[in-house]
Amino acid sequence: MRGRLLITAALVCFSPLLAGLSRTSDQPGIPPETVTDYIHAVIEADRTFYTVHVVERQQSGGGAVAAEGWRADKKILPLPAQFLMESSDLASKTGTKVRYRLISLWPINPHNAPYGESERHALEAVRQHPERSATGTVKVGDQLYFQAIYADRAVSHSCIACHNAHPRSPKKDFQMNDVMGGLVIEIPLDK
Ligand code: HEC
Repeated sequence: MRGRLLITAALVCFSPLLAGLSRTSDQPGIPPETVTDYIHAVIEADRTFYTVHVVERQQSGGGAVAAEGWRADKKILPLPAQFLMESSDLASKTGTKVRYRLISLWPINPHNAPYGESERHALEAVRQHPERSATGTVKVGDQLYFQAIYADRAVSHSCIACHNAHPRSPKKDFQMNDVMGGLVIEIPLDK
């Protein structure tokens, strides 16, 4: 009798907890485009901050310049694009399968050209409508990824000054706020 009472008491105590647990597992997941919007907000904030308050500030004050050879020469700052690539590499090393990269229709580095027709169309789409991302799915090996491509804009004078003057840049007339390319974010869809 006493044992049964104890079990009943335990059930009464834990039932709100159990109900809470089952509610959590019934909750619908966050849509992938919302997840990439969150990731994009963080990457873009860091990218803009680094370009405006580190690269541009140094350059205009006669300090260190940003250039490709930053690893070998300690007086050189990483380019904003390299900052992004390095952080994507570090992020993927945590085991989280999130990855991101910059692409463009006028890449300084041919490796940053769009991969295939769908990325090329996405770049055209974000150029026309920079306020929204172009989304789709891509398969890499057995893994299905959700892909979102966001407009990458000339947010600082240093973006256009450097690209327009770069000997390998195929486009020399970028203006402030132009869409210079796209930021590709990929997150895995299955577990
Ligand atoms: C000091 C020079 C410099 C500055 C400043 C700079 N970039 Fe770049 N950017 C480069 C170089 C060089 C590359 C190629 C890097 C590589 O080898 O992958 C590049 C790569 C890119 C790419 C990928 C396509 C390509 O051209 O290879 C995009 C898009 C891009 N930059 C946009 C921007 C934007 C937007 C800004 C400002 C927020 C900016 N860049 C600032 C020099 C610069």
